[in-house]
Amino acid sequence: MEPVNKVVVVTGGGNGIGAALCRRFAAEGAAKVVVADIDFVLAQNVAAEIGGLAVACNVANEADVKSLVETVIDTCGRVDIFISNAGITVKGGLDCPNEDWQRMWDVNVMSRLFAARAVVPQMLEQGGGYLIHTASAAGVLTEIGSASYSATKHADVALAEWLSVCYGRQGIDVSCICPLGVATDMLDDDDPIHRYLHLHVITPEEVAECVVQAMREKRFLILPHPDVADFFAMKTNDHDQWIRGMQRLRQKLTRAQTRRYAA
Ligand SMILES: NC(=O)c1ccc[n+]([C@@H]2O[C@H](COP(=O)([O-])OP(=O)(O)OC[C@H]3O[C@@H](n4cnc5c(N)ncnc54)[C@H](O)[C@@H]3O)[C@@H](O)[C@H]2O)c1
Repeated sequence: MEPVNKVVVVTGGGNGIGAALCRRFAAEGAAKVVVADIDFVLAQNVAAEIGGLAVACNVANEADVKSLVETVIDTCGRVDIFISNAGITVKGGLDCPNEDWQRMWDVNVMSRLFAARAVVPQMLEQGGGYLIHTASAAGVLTEIGSASYSATKHADVALAEWLSVCYGRQGIDVSCICPLGVATDMLDDDDPIHRYLHLHVITPEEVAECVVQAMREKRFLILPHPDVADFFAMKTNDHDQWIRGMQRLRQKLTRAQTRRYAA
C-alpha cells in the first residue's frame, strides 16, 4: 500500500519512532496524518509541523481509543492505516510489581486490541485497510533486562499474526515492526544490557523508511535491523541452543553490570 491520499493514525506519534512515522507519511502525501498521544503538547507540536490533526489519547483506555477512531472518521471520513505504536518499558524480572506488569500489558498489548476492535469493522466496510503494530525485536527474541517487555512484545506479535490470519483475506493487511535499538527516549544509555543489545542503534527516520518500503510489499515482519532475521532463524532452527547462547550472554552482561556498580 502507498500512503499517498491515505488517512493515517499513529499512536505515540508525539515522539521517537511515532513522530518519525508521522513526518514520513506526511512527506509521502498522506491525505491526513493523525498524531495521537497521551502527551497532547507533543502531539500538537508534531501535528503543527506537518499539517496533521493532534488528538489526546491514552491507548490503555478503550474509551479513548474508540473516541480517537470516531473523531478521525467524523473529521476525515475514514481510517486507512492505523499504526499502534505507543509503547512503554519497565525494567526488572520477578521483582517487577504487578502494577507495572498490568501497565505494560495495557499499553503494549490491550491498546492493539482496542485499536483493532474500533477500526476493523470500518475497514471491512470500506473494503480494506492496513494495521501496523510497533512491537520490537524483543517480540521475536527476548529483552534480557525486562521480563514484562519480552512477554508483552511477544503478545503484540502474536496478536498481529492473529489479525493477519483472520482478516488478511478480507482486505486488511497487517505488519509488525520489530527493531532492536532505535535512538529515542526509550533507550537507557546508562544500562549495560541496553547498551550491548542496542550496539547498532538506528534512527527513527531509518525505521520509517523501512516501514514505507515494507508496506509496498505488504510484508508482515518489518525488521529494520537485518541481524534480527538471522537471530530469529537461529532461534527457530535450534531453540535450546539459542537459549543456551542467551544464558551465556546474560551471565556476561550481568557480571559486567555488577562490576560496574561495585566500582
Ligand atoms: N526505542 C527503541 O529502541 C525501540 C526498539 C524496539 C521497539 N520500540 C517500540 O517503539 C514504540 C515507540 O517507542 P519509542 O522508542 O519511539 O519511544 P518514545 O518514548 O520516544 O515515544 C513513545 C511515545 O508514546 C507516547 N505514549 C506512552 N504511553 C502512551 C499511552 N498510554 N497512550 C498514548 N501514547 C503514549 C509517549 O508520550 C511518547 O510520545 C514502542 O512501542 C516501543 O516499545 C522501541
